[in-house]
Amino acid sequence: MSVRRLHPEQPESFAFTEDNAAYVRKVIARYPEGRQASAVIPVLMVAQDQEGWITQPCIEAVARLLDMPEIRVLEVATFYTQFQLSPVGRKAHIQVCGTTPCRLRGAGDIIAICKNRLAAHPFELSEDGAFSWEEVECAGACVNAPMVTVGKDTYEDLTAETFNALIDGLAAGNPPPPGPQNGRFFSAPEGGDTALTDLALYDGSVIGKYRAFDREELTPAPAAAPAPAAAPAPAAAPAADAKPAAEKPIPKVVEAQGQADAEKVPDQYKPTLLEAARDGRPDDLKLIWGVGSKLEELLHKLGVYHFDQIAGWNEMNLRWVDQHLGSFRGRALRDKWIDQCAKLSTGWRPSDKGGDKPV
Ligand code: FES
Repeated sequence: MSVRRLHPEQPESFAFTEDNAAYVRKVIARYPEGRQASAVIPVLMVAQDQEGWITQPCIEAVARLLDMPEIRVLEVATFYTQFQLSPVGRKAHIQVCGTTPCRLRGAGDIIAICKNRLAAHPFELSEDGAFSWEEVECAGACVNAPMVTVGKDTYEDLTAETFNALIDGLAAGNPPPPGPQNGRFFSAPEGGDTALTDLALYDGSVIGKYRAFDREELTPAPAAAPAPAAAPAPAAAPAADAKPAAEKPIPKVVEAQGQADAEKVPDQYKPTLLEAARDGRPDDLKLIWGVGSKLEELLHKLGVYHFDQIAGWNEMNLRWVDQHLGSFRGRALRDKWIDQCAKLSTGWRPSDKGGDKPV
């Protein structure tokens, strides 16, 4: 952990832009009279988004604005590593987690790449001024180690290759979607789910089935009952001299050998897809948080062009589409596309401050 001090060279003054000043007034108004100091972190974040880093004049201005001693604002700015105390890269400041789990999983390689590709030392600007980096303490994504934070995003499960690709993407203004970079879903097992994999568990069709089992009302399911709506299927019909209920084998919702099939969402759940965008004017699907140009292209190929299309899907439709997203599989569910598109289809748009997520 580095010593955190204000940069020796400071600008003359600081002032919020008109838009930011209006936004800051709204933020401060969220707090009760006399408690404006509670807004110090969000107000400093707005200042940092505006200037790129926290300057001494900024600290003085925020202290005046919130009617609090300058030392209190300085304490906050120097405590949290989310605040930059010196100028950072124009395109990205990369915070590499260097704590034990990330170290054990390759943070050393990530730092070596920073030194070789960006700047020899933390907080130094790269030659073109586009990048800077630093090592930080645990960012709370240890299960997806190693990871880095860039602005408000985290990039996880990194390798030297995917980290180099991230730098290339940031340099080109087209970074990959944040989150795990190895295709896994959040922090789910890397080899895929191994338990609770039957989709029927989530569509409501098996709710209360155990009661029927207790009352010995279950009848054998047809041999080729389609997944995922398949009812629990005991191995054989109960014989006249059936054992007492307590000794019956518990019916398996998913037979082990059928798990792979059960994970596959049948085509009956395929949503209505379009040959082309209505009136030749597709919605900008990149407004869906986590969707970039490649994923948008893939959605177009599938026949998805409009927010209201996605907003009208049900959970199984979403799962069907998700399993056709190739290396992007998991994004649709993870990022709650239906909820996002329900909001986007009303005309709501993310603000130009970036980072706004519809849900
Ligand atoms: S140790 Fe790296 S995120 Fe926790």
